[in-house]
Amino acid sequence: MPLPKAELHLHIEGTLEPELAFELAVRNGVELPYADTEALREAYRFEDLQSFLNLYYELMAVLRTERDFEDLANAYLARAAAQGVRHAEIFFDPQAHLARGVDMGTVVDGLWRALGVSEDAHGVSTRLILCFLRDESAESALRTLDAAKPYLDRITGIGLDSAEVGHPPAKFREVYEAAAALGLRRVAHAGEEGPPQYITEALDVLGVERVDHGLRCMEDPALVERLVRERIPLTLCPLSNVRLRTVDVLAEHPLPAMLDAGLVCTVNSDDPAYFGGYAGDNFDAVRTSLGLGEERLRELARNSFVASFLEDDEERRARYLAEVDAYTF
Ligand code: ADE
Ligand code: ZN
Repeated sequence: MPLPKAELHLHIEGTLEPELAFELAVRNGVELPYADTEALREAYRFEDLQSFLNLYYELMAVLRTERDFEDLANAYLARAAAQGVRHAEIFFDPQAHLARGVDMGTVVDGLWRALGVSEDAHGVSTRLILCFLRDESAESALRTLDAAKPYLDRITGIGLDSAEVGHPPAKFREVYEAAAALGLRRVAHAGEEGPPQYITEALDVLGVERVDHGLRCMEDPALVERLVRERIPLTLCPLSNVRLRTVDVLAEHPLPAMLDAGLVCTVNSDDPAYFGGYAGDNFDAVRTSLGLGEERLRELARNSFVASFLEDDEERRARYLAEVDAYTF
């Protein structure tokens, strides 16, 4: 039995496996510029975040109907459950779909057909987090939040993703304020490719409660001290960091140093179909390549539930934490 864990950094569009991409392409009459799944997998050699994002947005063309989003989410939840994920807080990128003529209702209703029954179907509780694309305008983010208003009963929070450098968090001050006023939780990608200053800005200007990635905080000791003091969780994605070349090889990932510094680290998969593994695969990889012992792995699993947006269900959080504490490796 795998270690129970929560996944807090997972882009549902990044769970689109080549096999499902081709199945949906056929179903929807969409032509993909790849001969087969093998040719598509060949394209999974990334130079940096942008080279990945180009393919990530290209493949979304196959996602058109509620059923497509339902199938995508169900495939992820089944794989996650098999790797010990008990709770998943799932990102989605509505602007990438709206731009293709797929409306907010199709995306949210489709995802919810899977998420709404996930506890019974997969044994995984879920939350949904709407992400804004930071390389789009602040006005577009505000329009997107507006389009999401009829669906807020199913949306727990907002996030910020896509190309980081040149798009600092402060650009999105207004939409984060509006989201906070609506009672939405706030997270943002910061310090993946962008500088430590973006992490500080995400905290101070956007009021985020967790930082997605946050890897580059290690360049700024005062920032590390603050993140430790304020118990701000970081949602790290080790296999993603290697594939997008923010870290040369997994054996050099700063996760052990980050844990030693007292940071509240969690381990997640980001875009598992593209980066070579789901949540459990990321745990296995850091155990093997970084030599993390059982107590470190238990700490990571505990952190994932502590950092979850489960304030509306503390009983559940306590149950999950008890499962982690009782786990025998
Ligand atoms: N969108 C999907 N995956 C992402 C990542 N790792 N960083 C930024 N935006 C993303
Ligand atoms: Zn991400």
